[in-house]
Amino acid sequence: MKKKLIEVALPLEAINKESAREKSIRHGHPSTLHLWWARRPLAACRAVLFASLVDDPSSLPEQFPTEADQDKERQRLFRLIEKLVLWENSNNRAVLDEAHAEILKSTAGNPPPIYDPFCGGGSIPLEAQRLGLEAHGSDLNPVAVLITKALIEIPPKFAGQPPVNPAAKNKLSGKGMWTGARGLADDVRYYGQWMCERAFERTAHLYPKVTLPKEHGGSEAVVIAWLWARTVACPNPACGARMHLVSSFWLSTKAGKKAWVQPVVEQADRTVRFEIRTGDGLAPAPPKAGRGAKFRCLVCQQVAPDQHIKDEGAAGRMGRQLMAIVAEGPKGRVYLAPFEEHEAIAASATPAWGPEQELADDPRNLWCIPYGLRRFRDLFTPRQLVALTTFLELANEARHQILADGASPAYADAVETYLAMIVSKATVFHNTLARWRTGEGKSAPAFGRQAIPMVWDFAEVNPAAGAGGDFLGIVEGAAKVVASLGTGCVGVVDQLDATGAQGMGGPQFVVSTDPPYYDNISYADLSDFFYVWLRRCLGTIYGQLFSTLVSPKKQELIASPYRFEGGSEEAREFFEEGFSRTFEKIRAKHSPAYPLVVYYAFKQSESTDDDEGNGDTQVASTGWETMLEGLLKAGFQVTGTWPTRTEGGTRLISMGTNSLASSIVLACRPRPDSAPITTRKDFLSLLKKELPHALRNMQKGNIAPVDLAQAAIGPGMAVFSRYKKVLETDGSPMRVRTALALINQGLDEVLSEFESEFDPDTRWALAWFEQYQFEVGDYGQAEVLATAKALSVSRLAESGMLYSHAKKVRLLRREELPEDWDPSAIGRLTVWEVTQHLIRSLDQKGEKETANLKAKIGGMAEIARDLAYRLYTLCERKGWAEEAGYYNSLVVAWPSMASEAFDLTGS
Ligand SMILES: C[S@@+](CC[C@H](N)C(=O)[O-])C[C@H]1O[C@@H](n2cnc3c(N)ncnc32)[C@H](O)[C@@H]1O
Repeated sequence: MKKKLIEVALPLEAINKESAREKSIRHGHPSTLHLWWARRPLAACRAVLFASLVDDPSSLPEQFPTEADQDKERQRLFRLIEKLVLWENSNNRAVLDEAHAEILKSTAGNPPPIYDPFCGGGSIPLEAQRLGLEAHGSDLNPVAVLITKALIEIPPKFAGQPPVNPAAKNKLSGKGMWTGARGLADDVRYYGQWMCERAFERTAHLYPKVTLPKEHGGSEAVVIAWLWARTVACPNPACGARMHLVSSFWLSTKAGKKAWVQPVVEQADRTVRFEIRTGDGLAPAPPKAGRGAKFRCLVCQQVAPDQHIKDEGAAGRMGRQLMAIVAEGPKGRVYLAPFEEHEAIAASATPAWGPEQELADDPRNLWCIPYGLRRFRDLFTPRQLVALTTFLELANEARHQILADGASPAYADAVETYLAMIVSKATVFHNTLARWRTGEGKSAPAFGRQAIPMVWDFAEVNPAAGAGGDFLGIVEGAAKVVASLGTGCVGVVDQLDATGAQGMGGPQFVVSTDPPYYDNISYADLSDFFYVWLRRCLGTIYGQLFSTLVSPKKQELIASPYRFEGGSEEAREFFEEGFSRTFEKIRAKHSPAYPLVVYYAFKQSESTDDDEGNGDTQVASTGWETMLEGLLKAGFQVTGTWPTRTEGGTRLISMGTNSLASSIVLACRPRPDSAPITTRKDFLSLLKKELPHALRNMQKGNIAPVDLAQAAIGPGMAVFSRYKKVLETDGSPMRVRTALALINQGLDEVLSEFESEFDPDTRWALAWFEQYQFEVGDYGQAEVLATAKALSVSRLAESGMLYSHAKKVRLLRREELPEDWDPSAIGRLTVWEVTQHLIRSLDQKGEKETANLKAKIGGMAEIARDLAYRLYTLCERKGWAEEAGYYNSLVVAWPSMASEAFDLTGS
């Protein structure tokens, strides 16, 4: 069986860099068509698919007989991947054709179809299609299925077709004008605008304008947002006022444009009205008096218990009061005090429909339910409901218009699908969970996190204005995405439970997939937010997909205790069994000529105090354990692992330890039936033999220390899964959990073996640091430790590493190190001081100056990076998250400092 490139080498740095960059790209990125949570970066999917189909040169000994030949060929493939992952090349025919030709060479001219049974937002099948491969995807979730259909199934059906809209008739229609889905995109734009114009007309009476004060020109202006405070009755019987549940009175925190709300209490009738202030002052403290629903009454100053707010909300007695109006003035945002008339107009909105479905009772992710926001319609103001339902009706009406303009029913269905997705996407902005962003003067859409939280004061934005949620902007965004699609092979997307008995249909596939990570994201519960709207509009076109009132939950592969009445053990079992069934099905369908690829997110959580209670923590990862149990049980073995990252350096620095920014790409093959059985002892000695090399390679690839422990699972599991069984001393088979713990231990041992490259002073510092960090310790103990390393405390003090006074010793803190430290003037540098100086410089002076310092340090800087890995792991085990963050940040900044240093030395 030929080894594929992914089983041997990958240009990780280039892939990670592009994956991180992709996050900031909005225009035309498929993610702008509709929200889906935790999408895989397209750059990573593209590179991984390519590398799982293309042969590694070592499998072609006739063509590449020596290692040098193979390396050279790998480098050639790397250069191609580096071009392929660039966002700008996403639709570059020349580059894609070059990649496709390479795939054809390695697949005897007959590339296999690709299948992702957990397709979510469609990244993997979309990239398969882009590479000219037949793309298949399925998901349990109807919203995910619809998004993936919109990306890979619908566009190729109408590829090359000119648009039907009357305006297009006047457009030049030269050769190539309507390639791919450009014709479809033109219709999405045209009918999207058609829908908007009519919706704006029908709802105009609900969006009154304002007359600006004289100092702002006195003209009529469009209101871009109404800012509301939720209210309940004050529980103080002597008060009886409405309490305002406001978390901030700021309207604008922009320098020179500060504005805030000033509440004014009218004691006569115990009401509160709001005025606007601008200038250099500060907004008054909000009534929010603590975490959760703790609020102070602005009238009587009494703090109400949060249970009272819950009770009022649950009884349907939570109201709202207008706090401010934001208008678009000739020179930018103008903040105005509320007008009664505006409040009355908002109250006059009478929606004919609203989604009555209830939110799932998922206390971990849906936090608004205790406050009475139980049904999806409760998450919208009446005006928002009127607007959204009007848009949806018009998406339906547009279908008739499209037919009248000469389209086939199938084509009209396709355009309506995109129009409904535009409305569904807009719901993220038009709901009562959208906050006002005081720094930017626009609203922050819901789902800033993967949850439905409770939001107290919220922004109701005008769908016809540009403060977030501008419909015409959303239409344009969608049209741009569609225009970039439809140039590849066919795409097929089904709704399917990956764990269920139903087969995966079709021929043998190459499976490349990104399954759910334990209990990390409650996809089904969150997706109902969109499902209820999409179902309303598209229920007739996609009858089967939208046949249930809400999205299916029972079969969802997630370890959510609430689905089992709080039972975490049941949730875990459900997850593990589901994975086993899925991988068994995959094994039956997956073409053995290629590696199966599984992307798996990870987080370094669930650390538990170890049994000795010495403050050290052990890494356990139920998410990994359960997935791996399933994978191995189904007879797969791990043949390659790659840590990929989607976050750039800055965020990693601030992230500390518990990251989910990375995922490991696992390449797996069916384990041969003839695989041997081994013992715990032999497993351990093989680990000892193979781990150091694997870790060295990862460090060469500059893996972030925060990712190292999880990344080590890959090579460790590659050893474990090579065997049919690893037998414990009592003859029982070793569990994955035990193997993971041993791999982690092995990692620690390997890292401490790397210590031999450090100078004795540094080894002393490391041992001391492990016990005292930068705190004071006993002189006698320091001396004993020093003598064992043929050192003395006085010599260590001379080398400027520690402070020793009155029988007490401590390591110098970074802020105490000499400012004028010049490595070129020091005879005997220690790795310890080099590392600490580099970190201080990075923290205080930034990458450029640190690159300069690093260049001056020379070769020893590389050893400092090794020390940073060691120190990171040590701090993490000790639970010193902040200190750990410094070592992580040094390694993460390394590549950019290397290039800076290159410029500086001119070498
Ligand atoms: C990590 S996401 C995939 C994200 C996708 N790769 C992307 O880039 O958008 C995992 C997906 O698994 C789906 N899923 C969960 N349980 C499932 C099941 N039993 N069968 C099929 N899909 C399921 C979820 O709906 C979710 O879309």
